[in-house]
Amino acid sequence: MRFGGQICFAIGALVVLVSSSWLYWIFKKRKLIVLKEKFFRRNEELKRATNNYDESRIVGRGGFGTIYKGILPENKIVAIKKSQMMDENQIEQFINEVVVLSQINHRNVVKLLGCCLETQVPLLVYEFITNGILFEHINNQSKASNISWENRLQIAAETAGVLSYLHSAASIPIIHRDVKSTNILLDDNHIAKVSDFGASRFVPLDQNQLAIVVQGTLGYLDPEYMFTSQLTEKSDVYSFVVVLGELITGKKALSFDKPEEERCLAMYFISCMNNDCLNQIIDEHMVIEGNIEELKEVANLAKRCLRVKGKERPYTKEVAMELEGLIRKKTSRNGLNYSEIEYLLDKASIGYVVGGYRSNTTTARVDSMAEDMLLHGGR
Ligand SMILES: Nc1ncnc2c1ncn2[C@@H]1O[C@H](COP(=O)(O)OP(=O)(O)OP(=O)(O)O)[C@@H](O)[C@H]1O
Ligand SMILES: *[C@@H]1O[C@H](CO)[C@@H](O)[C@H](O)[C@H]1NC(C)=O
Ligand SMILES: *[C@@H]1O[C@H](CO)[C@@H](O)[C@H](O)[C@H]1NC(C)=O
Ligand SMILES: *[C@@H]1O[C@H](CO)[C@@H](O)[C@H](O)[C@H]1NC(C)=O
Ligand SMILES: *[C@@H]1O[C@H](CO)[C@@H](O)[C@H](O)[C@H]1NC(C)=O
Repeated sequence: MRFGGQICFAIGALVVLVSSSWLYWIFKKRKLIVLKEKFFRRNEELKRATNNYDESRIVGRGGFGTIYKGILPENKIVAIKKSQMMDENQIEQFINEVVVLSQINHRNVVKLLGCCLETQVPLLVYEFITNGILFEHINNQSKASNISWENRLQIAAETAGVLSYLHSAASIPIIHRDVKSTNILLDDNHIAKVSDFGASRFVPLDQNQLAIVVQGTLGYLDPEYMFTSQLTEKSDVYSFVVVLGELITGKKALSFDKPEEERCLAMYFISCMNNDCLNQIIDEHMVIEGNIEELKEVANLAKRCLRVKGKERPYTKEVAMELEGLIRKKTSRNGLNYSEIEYLLDKASIGYVVGGYRSNTTTARVDSMAEDMLLHGGR
């Protein structure tokens, strides 16, 4: 009798166990089906948005995928990054980008709107940045003359601001690792949007980091990092300043068509600073009345950031503050003060005379700066 009761109990327990795990399995499977349907629908939507990934929708190609312009229903325009093929390294970069970008919310970082990692080839969806890469704006003559010294200073300050945020304000510090003028996009108002976080890394780095191959782009690569494989935030400082150099000289980070001493912008820049012939290297467009002192200050900052020893370079926070300080000084010299800035904010849509010239872009820039100053109490 007692024996039979135990059997009954055991059978009962077994039935409960089997049926509950069966239910659980059904539930999981249903959830998976629903999820798959959702992904399938989203994939279809992205396929439609890009006209089945039509050639004409390609806006750029990178080492890790092709970027398409996508038009979603309701005319929302997005950039869709599609991996070329299934490659372990590529998938890793894609996932890295998702993980990093999902931690970041900054107005000068390209927003990641979504991703489809379930598909054969992973897809990433970003906000679409309308005005192309900074590199093009520096190197295409008709565009370069269109982007003023003020614009350039502001773009530099915005980029430094992003790096400073990544290095010290994000919940887990992040090193970008691939700062260059082709990874900075501009919007219609020439506001900088930093992109391409595929190579970025969280700090503190794990011990294996030393074994990983040195990654980055020649011409921007920190020589200390290159020789020691020791990655620190100061490597981003070095790369950033090469971009700053591009902005003030209008030259490329590496120009293979130039004589050897001019080939590498960072080296050329340092030698010009040391020989007191800065005017030889600065873009003539940049020299306008009253900005010689500013150019010198920026060049001095650049020199400090190019020091061979990372420890001796300033932190990005200092770099960003110095650039913002220059801009503020400039604005106040141009006769703007708080009440005027507030007035300007009201007049946002009118082409307003700032510092002696009339331009919509300049107004937009001053507005966004004014907004910053109002929000952060003139930091
Ligand atoms: N959000 C965006 N909006 C508009 N155009 C974009 C956007 N993102 C990228 N592009 C364009 O696509 C090009 C390639 O993009 P991206 O550099 O991100 O690709 P990648 O594969 O990560 O390249 P890399 O070789 O630098 O790793 C860019 O140079 C730019 O012209
Ligand atoms: C330079 O920019 C102009 C204006 O956007 C464009 O029409 C031209 O094709 C560009 N030149 C090159 C070489 O890309
Ligand atoms: C120069 O800038 C103006 C206004 O920002 C724009 O309308 C124009 O197309 C730009 N020119 C070039 C060549 O990019
Ligand atoms: C700011 O500018 C306004 C208008 O030009 C002027 O009346 C005011 O005194 C200025 N304020 C300061 C603090 O300079
Ligand atoms: C500047 O703004 C005015 C008024 O909003 C507009 O008509 C004009 O097209 C703008 N110019 C440029 C170059 O964007």
